[in-house]
Amino acid sequence: MIFPEDFVWGAATASYQIEGAVKEDGRGQSIWDTFSHTPGNVVDGDTGDVACDHYHRYKDDVGLMRELRLRAYRFSIAWPRIQPDGAGSINPRGLAFYDKLVDELLAAEISPYATLYHWDLPQALEDRGGWTNRDTAYRFADYAAAVHDQLGDRVRNWATLNEPWVSAYLGYGNGVHAPGHRDPADAMRSAHHLLLGHGLAARRLRPGTVMLVVNSAPVLTPAQVNDPAAVPSAADAAAVHRIHTLLTRQFLDPAVHGTYPEEVLEAAAHNGGTGHIRDGDLALINAPVDLIGINYYNPCVVESGPGLPADAAWPGSEDVRFAAADAPTTAMGWPIVPDGLSRLLVRLSQDYPQVGLMVTENGAAFDDVVEGGRVHDADRLAYLDGHLREVWRAIEAGADLRGYLVWSLLDNFEWAEGYRRRFGIVHVDYATQTRVLKDSALWYRDVIARNAL
Ligand code: FCB
Repeated sequence: MIFPEDFVWGAATASYQIEGAVKEDGRGQSIWDTFSHTPGNVVDGDTGDVACDHYHRYKDDVGLMRELRLRAYRFSIAWPRIQPDGAGSINPRGLAFYDKLVDELLAAEISPYATLYHWDLPQALEDRGGWTNRDTAYRFADYAAAVHDQLGDRVRNWATLNEPWVSAYLGYGNGVHAPGHRDPADAMRSAHHLLLGHGLAARRLRPGTVMLVVNSAPVLTPAQVNDPAAVPSAADAAAVHRIHTLLTRQFLDPAVHGTYPEEVLEAAAHNGGTGHIRDGDLALINAPVDLIGINYYNPCVVESGPGLPADAAWPGSEDVRFAAADAPTTAMGWPIVPDGLSRLLVRLSQDYPQVGLMVTENGAAFDDVVEGGRVHDADRLAYLDGHLREVWRAIEAGADLRGYLVWSLLDNFEWAEGYRRRFGIVHVDYATQTRVLKDSALWYRDVIARNAL
């Protein structure tokens, strides 16, 4: 299985998950500092205070990337390092870190892919309503422009938001993520303001390639998980359609087509109303984008569930049952369905033919053990191999897929799960900050070198 010649191979991380150094060089507080320091929110009370200490070890970490022959590295910029209060003048010491990181990457011939928002909103903005406040979208665009001013001469590839569905619905809907609100109306308002922030920022990232990163997934009935040809009942098909709309079309239709699906407007109408969606907003959201970034881990499995109330993370999901998949699972309990990725990529390339696609995250957590200085993570290696085969199949089937970034380079702070869930292809011993390349990393290095499986 040979990949296209210019296929982009890389790995991804995010600021709060790896950097640590939360009080250094004038960094302001983020909603994840507040949230993780509030007892009960994160397993074992873990926080990102130290994480992988990447802020101090970035040179060595770029060295690992070079060893793995990565061609691209997707990282995120911590907004509170750049604007400690979320607005106003730039903190040059915060920006200097990314400046040095970018130079280090370029010297190693690794293309930087910068994500502007991977969930660490400045707490000062949350104190003014966070993403429920329309003004946050304008603050985000100003921040994006300021970063682009400084790094745009060297960073060509920009992502505005990482997974706005998660920011809105886990952050403001079910409260599993920061800032921990539990209000469907807040969640729907936030989703719209995130999209508005994306559109406003996207216009200010030129010259450059602009990407929106979504946590899309194929939505399947239980029978379709192992039999793509299974034909669902009308009621099950309606449940699938609704969840696909809430998960994927809610974000990609406005961003790519400049329209909201009817079902999203209905869900908003039943959850606080549509007053926050102003005339002209869709045109602002519909700024040109070059790429859609896809973070894929597992399919979303649903069936008809007459009479069920909406799930807290899914306003508008009345009468839907979220079901288990008949498939092996990772340490997260997430079902392993590799061909879900090809099904998704082919579908998205049909629904949004005007944009290219990139897998911006894919990977798995397993309970790794270090034995004699090695980590034999056969299950992760098999997961990645299985998914990369599906990436290749999707390209063969005509999907305009430009690259693949594994999640994650390093074991890191896995949000509400803390450090117990390890997604890295590089093992991190948090007590000593020792890095060990897992077997999956060595395998990935060879795949990249061969450009083939
Ligand atoms: C995604 C996030 C990423 C990581 C993986 C496992 O939703 O974007 O930060 O936590 O899940």
